[in-house]
Amino acid sequence: MDGTFNENDISRVIEADRANVWHHLIQHQPFFTGADPKIIVEGKGIKVWDQKGIEHIDAVSGGVWTVNVGYGRETIGDAVRDAIVKMNFFGGTTGSIPGALFAEKLLTKMPGMDRVYYCNSGSEANEKAFKMVRQIAHKKYGGKKHKILYRDRDYHGTTIACLSAGGQDERNAQYGPYTPGFVRVPHCLEYRKHEQDGAPEQNYGEWAADQIEAIILREGPDTVGALCLEPVTAGGGVIEAPDGYWPRVAEICEKYDILLHIDEVVCGVGRTGEWFGYQHYGIKPDFVTMAKGVASGYAAIACMVTTNDVFDMFKDDTSDNMNYFRDISTFGGCTAGPAAAIENMRIIEDEDLLGNTVAMGDYMLDQLRALQDRHAVIGQVRGKGLFLGAELVKDRDSREPADEKMVQAVVGNCMKQAVIIGATNRSLPGRNNTLCFSPALIATTDNIDHIVGAVDTALTDVFG
Ligand SMILES: Cc1ncc(COP(=O)(O)O)c(C=O)c1O
Repeated sequence: MDGTFNENDISRVIEADRANVWHHLIQHQPFFTGADPKIIVEGKGIKVWDQKGIEHIDAVSGGVWTVNVGYGRETIGDAVRDAIVKMNFFGGTTGSIPGALFAEKLLTKMPGMDRVYYCNSGSEANEKAFKMVRQIAHKKYGGKKHKILYRDRDYHGTTIACLSAGGQDERNAQYGPYTPGFVRVPHCLEYRKHEQDGAPEQNYGEWAADQIEAIILREGPDTVGALCLEPVTAGGGVIEAPDGYWPRVAEICEKYDILLHIDEVVCGVGRTGEWFGYQHYGIKPDFVTMAKGVASGYAAIACMVTTNDVFDMFKDDTSDNMNYFRDISTFGGCTAGPAAAIENMRIIEDEDLLGNTVAMGDYMLDQLRALQDRHAVIGQVRGKGLFLGAELVKDRDSREPADEKMVQAVVGNCMKQAVIIGATNRSLPGRNNTLCFSPALIATTDNIDHIVGAVDTALTDVFG
């Protein structure tokens, strides 16, 4: 930290924050009864410094799986500056140099995908795909094939339509009524299959996918337009579907002519050790949405990527003046996002951060499993690449979830040790019991030892 702020400056900032800012996802009362809001003033690599100058290891890439290439990347700053000084913005009916070049580069990482639609946030990218599904239903099926299936425990964003596709009941509570035409399918968390009626001992993956087919048959296949899934569920508990799930899902989509929408907002651009999470499973999506890691938070950018099959449906009849995607995202025309994204991708390539993610992900998984041997409260460790979770339980046999306050106490204890970890939080009623880890893709074994060591101490302090 270079000491840019002095004591007086920072107290003024804290007061300005306390008096004026409405923070995301937290209660504010503590800020009026003694606690200060936390202000992060600087970041470098995997570390951040708060207003007191305390150095923290960030095991969650900016809190929400975003800063994949780490903090303080001057070359991204330079790329953004150069882009915006030359041409910062023009509405998206026109093109831009960074927009064209990033789309071209991105598609080289996504064989089978053909078109990039720019917007600002993961929620918005998902909304674009939802709107396309609805418009295709109107164009081809008289409006009938408009339903969108989403999965229990998945999250697709914060807007009302995205919450309508939201499988996290605590997140959704109090924000209804919701948009019609979204239908829930069951989760695929094998560790909790004992809570699902009829789940088998063997071949759980196929069974979980078959539950999707059952819903399609119940709704009527001619009413279902798309299935929207996270490749690895993030805030719903870091859930990777077991073997057998994805091939069956692909088969079902094919059979009923259902478009497959993969939400890569968290997994996209390296988090799981492939460019995209779906690429682990040999499936071919129709829509892929992405946001957080696309530019590692150096600029706002989100993309909805689709195939020529979809794109062509919107350009087949020029005599119909309604026959195009009648949608705009003002800030989808900003050049800062794609300029940052190009440089972000170059860094991942040149520093082999996908390779590092695989190696460090395996290392971290081993370290967390070793921790599981010492702490009975860890029921399961799971995840892929540098995207890992540890589900805490009261009892390994019954798998009764650990008390949420104690899970949060582990997070708080780590924070006191200056290690920032996450946990599922007010998302799933009675199931907010998974610790979440997603360090930057530059993480080293030393960083991981430091993080896991802090969790070890916290588990002992909280659970004994
Ligand atoms: C899987 C997933 N999809 C979509 C979103 C929404 O992204 P945003 O907050 O950029 O709108 C999130 C955010 O956490 C997410 O985890």
